[in-house]
Amino acid sequence: MMKDRILSELEKADGYVSGEQLSKLLGVSRTAVWKNIKQLKEDGCKINSVTNKGYMLCEKPDLLDAGKISSRLCTSVVGTKIEVLKVVDSTNEEVKRRAAVGAASGLLIAADRQTGGKGRLGRVWESDTGGVYFTLLLRPDLPPNDISGVTLAMGYGVCTAIRKYTDLDAKIKWPNDIIIGNKKVCGILTEMAAQTDRVDYIAVGIGINVNHSSFPDEISHKATSLYIETGHKIDRNEFLACVISELDKAAARFIVGFTKEETDYFKSLCATLGRNVKAVKNGKEIEGIATDVLYGGELQIRLESGEYVSINSGEVVVQGIY
Ligand code: BTN
Repeated sequence: MMKDRILSELEKADGYVSGEQLSKLLGVSRTAVWKNIKQLKEDGCKINSVTNKGYMLCEKPDLLDAGKISSRLCTSVVGTKIEVLKVVDSTNEEVKRRAAVGAASGLLIAADRQTGGKGRLGRVWESDTGGVYFTLLLRPDLPPNDISGVTLAMGYGVCTAIRKYTDLDAKIKWPNDIIIGNKKVCGILTEMAAQTDRVDYIAVGIGINVNHSSFPDEISHKATSLYIETGHKIDRNEFLACVISELDKAAARFIVGFTKEETDYFKSLCATLGRNVKAVKNGKEIEGIATDVLYGGELQIRLESGEYVSINSGEVVVQGIY
């Protein structure tokens, strides 16, 4: 696009570039240059315009860009089609709308900002600029009961990507949160449409706190971001590409089945194991030590009585983590 070519000329330049130079270089009229500069400003670029000198780029916006993300990818399942929106109510809602009109498995919709970001259990997910918010559409040929395993595999993919990209000691809080220390950096909300025995689609919504420098008072004791933990801002396009690539590997492994080594590695990343937990099973509160993640992804808990029970979804309160 012409505006991208103008932006790249401004990036290369050391100082001001005149409208005339740009129009000659790119073979368009000076009015076209001016119109594209106006668009770049609307996109969030800070560009100084000075009569007789021309244009100088002062600041580029940190926006997600489907082209920049896809150019770093070579995935087979996840993100085979990527769309980026500047603002949307919720990427989960958008993916569900697309799924209803037949969108294919592998579609990934990301947004810079959500006006109605949704968390689990009807909670709100704060979705200001600086985070990475996206939803993946999958149409696995599975019965509805097996879906918690897919979400778990996606959490494992995000955790691995954070560890690779930042070197931080990210861990999984079973089933769907990623934590650093005792604070949450990522949450996953999976929604599903299914017949009794077959899944039509699942929408795996993932929110990662990336470049936030602070959080609202109500959540600041339990939320953190990659910026807070590493001390430097993250290139969100590069990071999201890394996440998608790990999600793709995790999805592929889920289909063929994780090896014993991979399962052991997954368990070593699970911060819930070995801790005292409280959960609800069949409407009854249970408490005990989390002892294992079973083959289907269920969390095994040893109750005080010595009896072992397993749960396959739901909220788990873990002693010592938020
Ligand atoms: C949670 O921990 O409660 C789950 C949070 C999930 C948030 C993500 S952000 C992208 C996607 N769109 C939403 O509206 N929610 C999920």
